[in-house]
Parts: sequence; structure tokens; C-alpha cells
Amino acid sequence: MSTLTEQSQQMNGVQNGTRNIPSHQEALSELKNPSLLIHDAFIDGQWSKKGNTFDVLDPSTSTVLGKVANCDLADFQRAIDSAYTAQQEYFAATTATTRGSLLRKWFDLIIANTDDLATILCLENGKTYAEARGEIVYAASFVSWFAEEATRAYGLTIPSSIPHTTLLTVKEPIGVCGIITPWNFPAAMITRKIAPALAAGCAVVIKPPSETPFTSLALTKLAVEAGLPPKTIQVCPTKDRQAATELATNPLVRKISFTGSTNVGKMLAKLAAGTLKKVSLELGGNAPFIVFDDADLDLAVEGAMFCKFRCSGQTCVCANRLMVQKGVAKEFTRKLVEKVSQLKTGPSLDPSTTQGPLVNRAGVEKVKAHIEDAISKGAKIEVGGDAVPGKGFLFAPTVLSSATSDMIVANEETFGPLAPIFEFDTEADAVHLANKTEFGLAGYFFSRDMGRCMRVAQKLQVGMVGVNTGKISAAEAPFGGVKESGYGREGSSYGLEEYQVLKSVTFGNQNK
Ligand code: SIN
Repeated sequence: MSTLTEQSQQMNGVQNGTRNIPSHQEALSELKNPSLLIHDAFIDGQWSKKGNTFDVLDPSTSTVLGKVANCDLADFQRAIDSAYTAQQEYFAATTATTRGSLLRKWFDLIIANTDDLATILCLENGKTYAEARGEIVYAASFVSWFAEEATRAYGLTIPSSIPHTTLLTVKEPIGVCGIITPWNFPAAMITRKIAPALAAGCAVVIKPPSETPFTSLALTKLAVEAGLPPKTIQVCPTKDRQAATELATNPLVRKISFTGSTNVGKMLAKLAAGTLKKVSLELGGNAPFIVFDDADLDLAVEGAMFCKFRCSGQTCVCANRLMVQKGVAKEFTRKLVEKVSQLKTGPSLDPSTTQGPLVNRAGVEKVKAHIEDAISKGAKIEVGGDAVPGKGFLFAPTVLSSATSDMIVANEETFGPLAPIFEFDTEADAVHLANKTEFGLAGYFFSRDMGRCMRVAQKLQVGMVGVNTGKISAAEAPFGGVKESGYGREGSSYGLEEYQVLKSVTFGNQNK
């Protein structure tokens, strides 16, 4: 039996040391289960072809990977109506045990199809095949987590102040959920939202990202194969923003869950307020990554490499500002530059690639603009600094030193492979700088002083803190932010509550 690396090398055409990277057409033609590559919407339990389609690009080559259905307003309305009927007429009444076992079957199918799902994902998103495989396993972990959580949705009995009365609470599914997901995690952001929704007994209407719709369609096919009632999952790819806003305004939708930019999140929250839908928003970040002078510097560099360069710097929880105490700044920079110089930028299917392309040209232009602004204000390029010539959206992993708080990199999420290093004097300065942003998603710091670890973890104004680690994401960990990074929590036991309403039931006059 071949190892994972050998399998990945074979799949990528690397044999006997001769590299032959397949085109995306070749990679797609080698899918073990070609039926997973779907170009249609999934509405009212049927795969629906559309005359109107849009192109999805392969970011490694900027050529068209495939065309997908472009849903309009009528499609969204049909999907919402169908989801509403399915949820009300039968899905809400299924037992949690049934829903849990359906989710477990879906989990098994996702894992069994990891290779194909990873191929589709890496081709449309640009992350490396190895990272894409990792994301499929991460995505599946939310399905198994919520398969278990489904049966743990306990209510309470509460001692009543009224004689002869029993008061209890039950958790009920909130209803139809509008799910709007980002392109940076085409699989995991779908499962992190719809696994708890389905576990709670809700039906979902998904608007996948227009950059990466194919993974969501493949996951849906597997969900239906697993036995989830087809009309409880509807998928409407679209480039028509107006049509998609139906999810935020239609009165039959009772919950919106969105991951994406703060501007769009605010717009959706305003629209959803018209019918007072419950809303969860996982929005932009500007994560501080603080290295104190008592830190284990090798551990800090390892943490920075993971949480800065994962997905080529395109995650909401990526370290955006590397803040290093003056006494260790030179040493940390040297060690980081050494590691960053070893990264290899290239097409996602090349097994030697560690940094895939950014998702689109706009992403490349944004990183360039942030670097130009920083240089004009006194920053210095330590490594990288520019886009990689060629057709793909590649950008060289970059480290900047002498970053200062008047630069765009201090205030805006770059969403690319750029690590600007800011220096600070004291713990109080670091905390002050870290919190000097309207965002509050993730924050990281490295220190060996236990007292400092407790203090700083408390003082950072963020929803998630990594202490001596750059890895904070897991199915069991509550994921979400504070301030303008949004509200609501995904994953963990709290993630299920986002899709439930609490009902109190008072049984009175029991003596009569
Ligand atoms: C995100 O970038 O939105 C998600 C990242 C993660 O789950 O770690």
C-alpha cells in the first residue's frame, strides 16, 4: 500500500523524480467518483440545470475550471419555500438520534471521498492538495462533532415559584437557515454551519461563494447519499447579489449565518433586522501575534508560520500584525525569515508547493498595495515583496520589518502572505497596540511567564486567544469574535444553540 505522500505524488504526476504536474482537466478526469463534480444548483430535492451560468477560475492558472448554475431570485424563493415545507412537515419532527446517525453516515462518506473532494477544493481555491486534504478532514470533524451534539440538546426543569407548577425548557429548531459561506474554506465553513443546523432539525439554503461553489455541491451530493432528506439542503450558487439577499429578507428564513467581510456582514444584519432573524456573523479580523522577550522563539516562529501562512495567509484568524518585544526582535526576525525563505510558491497541484496562489487578482493587488504603503512609510522588505510572474495569482511570502501603526498593515486585514513586524517596549504597550483596532476575532501571544499569560489572555479584546500556539481552530472550540469581527459562535456546544430557540413550558394547576 502506498503512503499518503506517494499517493499524492502519483496523483500529481511525479514519478521517478520527474515532475509532470497535471492540468486541472487531467486532475478532474482522474476523479475516482466523477459524479462529485456538479455544475447545477440543488433546489427542491433536484439537481437544477440553468441556462445562465458563470465561470469558476483555477487560481493556479487563471483559466476557467468550469461553469456553474447562476441562480436568480425565483430560484432562491423556490429553494426557501421548499426548505420551509420540508422543515415544518417532517424534518423538525425527526428524533435527534435519527439526525445524529444521518450526520455520522455523511461523515463516513466525506472521509471515504477525501481524495476527490480535496482535488476539487484545491483546484477551485488554490490551496495545496495537502492543505485541501487537511481541510476535508477538518470539515468532516464538524459533522461528527454535531452528530454527537444533536443528542445532547438538553433542556432544564426549573423550580417554579408558583405552587403546583412545573416549569421546563425545550430546545427547538429555529427554522429555515440562510447560509452564506466564504471561499477560503470551501468545505469547512459549509459543514461548520450546516452540520449544527441539521443536527438541530433545521433546513438550510446555502449560497456558496462564487469563487468555490464546486466543493459545496459535492458535499451536498454526499449528504443526500447519506440519507439526509434532500429538501432539507438547498444550494443556490449565484453571482447575483440581489438574488442572494433574499436569504436576509424572506420572512420564512429565521436565521442567517454569514462568514465574510465586515461590510457585507453589517449590510446583512440590517436587512435581516427587517424580519428580526437571528444572525451569526463571523467577519474580518486584524489578529495581533505578540512575542514577548521571555518567549520560546522557535515555538513562536513555528506558531507564526502556521497562523500567518496557512491558506497563503487567507484566513480570518491569520496573524495580521506580528508584534515583537524590542530585545528579541532581531533574533525573531532572523529566524522567521529563514523559515519563510524555505516556502515554495507554486500551483496547487504541484506536490512541492507549500504556498498556493491567492484566490484572485484582487487578492494579489491588495497585498501589493499594503506593501507599497508600508515601504513608503519606512518599512523594510526582509524577504519576498512581490507577485510571482506568471498566469496564476501567486505572491511571494513576505516579511516586513520596521512596521508602524500609521501603515495600512496595522489597520486592515491583508488576507495574503504578508508578515509585518512591529516592535514594542512593554507589556502594556503590546496590549494597547493589540487592542487598537475595531476588529476582535483572534489574538496570539508567546511567553513563558504564567502570570503574564493569564493577564494578557484576559486583556486582549478578541473572541479567541492562542497562548504559545498558532493553532486555535477545532470542532470543539467556540469560534467567533467580538467588536466588529461579529457575533455568535460556531463549533463547540455553543454552535448548536445558534440554530435553536429556547421554549419554556409551564404546567400549572397540577392540584386540580
Ligand atoms: C476562517 O478563516 O474564516 C476560518 C478559519 C478557521 O476555521 O480556522
